[in-house]
Amino acid sequence: MKRASSLAFGLACLASAVHAQDTESKLVINDDIDITTVAEAPAHAENLSEIYSGWAFRSPETMALQMDDFDNPGMIFVDQALDAYNTVEGSAGKSCQSCHGDDAEGLVGARAVYPKWNANAGEVWTMEMAINGCRTERMGAEPWGYTSGNMVNMTALISSVSRGMPVNVSFEGPEHDTWLQGKELYYTRTGQLELSCANCHEDNYDMMIRADHLSQGQINGFPTYRLKNAKLNAVHSRFKGCIRDTRAETYSPGSPEFVALELYVASRGNGLSVEGPSVRN
Ligand code: HEC
Ligand code: HEC
Repeated sequence: MKRASSLAFGLACLASAVHAQDTESKLVINDDIDITTVAEAPAHAENLSEIYSGWAFRSPETMALQMDDFDNPGMIFVDQALDAYNTVEGSAGKSCQSCHGDDAEGLVGARAVYPKWNANAGEVWTMEMAINGCRTERMGAEPWGYTSGNMVNMTALISSVSRGMPVNVSFEGPEHDTWLQGKELYYTRTGQLELSCANCHEDNYDMMIRADHLSQGQINGFPTYRLKNAKLNAVHSRFKGCIRDTRAETYSPGSPEFVALELYVASRGNGLSVEGPSVRN
């Protein structure tokens, strides 16, 4: 019972379950966009029977913030991103709008299928990599920092136009080796606490860790506006924080390891809705 003992050592406060699955709450944004927050687990998430958005584990007050864009603090950053989207930058004299249309209409659906194999580059690309690819190759502009404000805001804009669409990330094609690498990372115990992602988010979701209601660690809601730091948070920033909590050395945002982990974690959410920018603690 190594797992139980290291959990007991590291997380002395694991307490009773709160049963997210009993919640009757439904997430409908602006009385218009239906969000699937519970779904049957895809076959490749072999140890889960149902998958849940992190939304289902938050307090009623936090849940409510996502029901109307005027209450969702993350939407302010979407407006900022729209300004950047319309701004001409770089040697080619183009803005994102020049090629992708008004209000990111040409990018509707993209969030649901990322990370995605990029045939030209011969590697899996996250949304951030695709954005920087356009900036450097198509605009002649400087790349944005992987978790910079401009970047996370832009991912929020691109996510917002796909809200309600089912996450449907591919993992059985040329991206399969990367997916397997991500799966390996997901199940590897790290740090002094010897905990893997799975120990918390698969074996113990719905339990309390200190004051926090543990979710499945899904990423369909990213980027997330966190009440804790009052800004949008990128997927890789969250991975970094979770690994730090096990007192392990962590990878950098944008590293091949985190790209692989993101692909794997995203695929575990196939069937949930794109929900970002979401609101979390
Ligand atoms: C000169 C035209 C051009 C500009 C300017 C441009 N892009 Fe692109 N972008 C493209 C093309 C072409 C593709 C590839 C489309 C495809 O593969 O289906 C692409 C792909 C993308 C993708 C991946 C979409 C997908 O479905 O895989 C994203 C995200 C993206 N661009 C975002 C941006 C953002 C954000 C900006 C501004 C910072 C921008 N682009 C500027 C032409 C452009
Ligand atoms: C010690 C337990 C623990 C471990 C190990 C852990 N996490 Fe977390 N994680 C948490 C807690 C607590 C939260 C905040 C509450 C929640 O959303 O589950 C969280 C939140 C998250 C979220 C945000 C979910 C949302 O909807 O906003 C993601 C994504 C996530 N973790 C991914 C991971 C990944 C990937 C790993 C492995 C690299 C990992 N976590 C390892 C405890 C852990």
